[in-house]
Amino acid sequence: MKFHIMTLFPQIIEAYMSESIMKKAEEKGNIEYKTWNIRDYSESKHKKVDDYPYGGGAGMVMTPQPIVSCYNAVVDDLDESLKQDKKPKVIYLTPKGKVFNNDMAIALAKEESLILLCGHYEGVDQRVIDLIVDEEISIGDYVLTGGELPALILIDSISRHVKGVLGHEESLDEESFTNGLLEYPHYTRPEVFMEKEVPKVLLSGHHKNIESWRKLESIKLTMKLRPDLFDYEALSKEDKKLLKKHNVIDK
Ligand SMILES: C[S@@+](CC[C@H](N)C(=O)[O-])C[C@H]1O[C@@H](n2cnc3c(N)ncnc32)[C@H](O)[C@@H]1O
Repeated sequence: MKFHIMTLFPQIIEAYMSESIMKKAEEKGNIEYKTWNIRDYSESKHKKVDDYPYGGGAGMVMTPQPIVSCYNAVVDDLDESLKQDKKPKVIYLTPKGKVFNNDMAIALAKEESLILLCGHYEGVDQRVIDLIVDEEISIGDYVLTGGELPALILIDSISRHVKGVLGHEESLDEESFTNGLLEYPHYTRPEVFMEKEVPKVLLSGHHKNIESWRKLESIKLTMKLRPDLFDYEALSKEDKKLLKKHNVIDK
């Protein structure tokens, strides 16, 4: 999977992508990425990329010419097969977009390539969105100064669903949000820390009991921390029995 990132601040992307799991994923060839500096495509004398908003108001708006020229350069750089009929989706990161979630990450991980557009200042001229953008995605109901962190959040969470990136894909099955539940609590050494003990069942080696405990904790945690996610009817017969047995729900 390849990410093309159009940005005014490629160093922000490079800094994150050159560490830890993203770095390893690139070295192993599971993901690729390329940053495109929008400013390089400005045709103005001083490489200007923003201007005052028509109609007045605070802040500056990113002008369309450098972004669309940058996009054309990205498309020119694509493999022939992609250029023809599989043009990558262009995603504009914006607080006005659809709020990103795990299902969207899983769906986007099936794409061969993605083009991510990072805005700055008050955002991009609307005509950029009309001309080249396929999807507008937000990472949450708050406003950041630029689209680079949102782009990295997409790249990171999408990449975790690309084969080979984590190297232990089964861990994704139990991760938070996968089954509409938050993940169970984790414990590691030591067995006792500041008088707090690891739950005995985790030391028992009894796999079935450990599995039940984890499922129960996962459900209880979701009910407590994210009641908006919890859907009793979506639970399996066994899970409903488990809740009843432990008096979590009286149904
Ligand atoms: C200061 S914001 C622009 C906000 C815009 N004036 C508004 O009120 O909707 C600048 C850029 O940061 C990015 N950005 C800020 N918050 C974001 C969010 N929650 N999700 C995705 N991108 C965001 C976008 O690329 C945006 O163009």
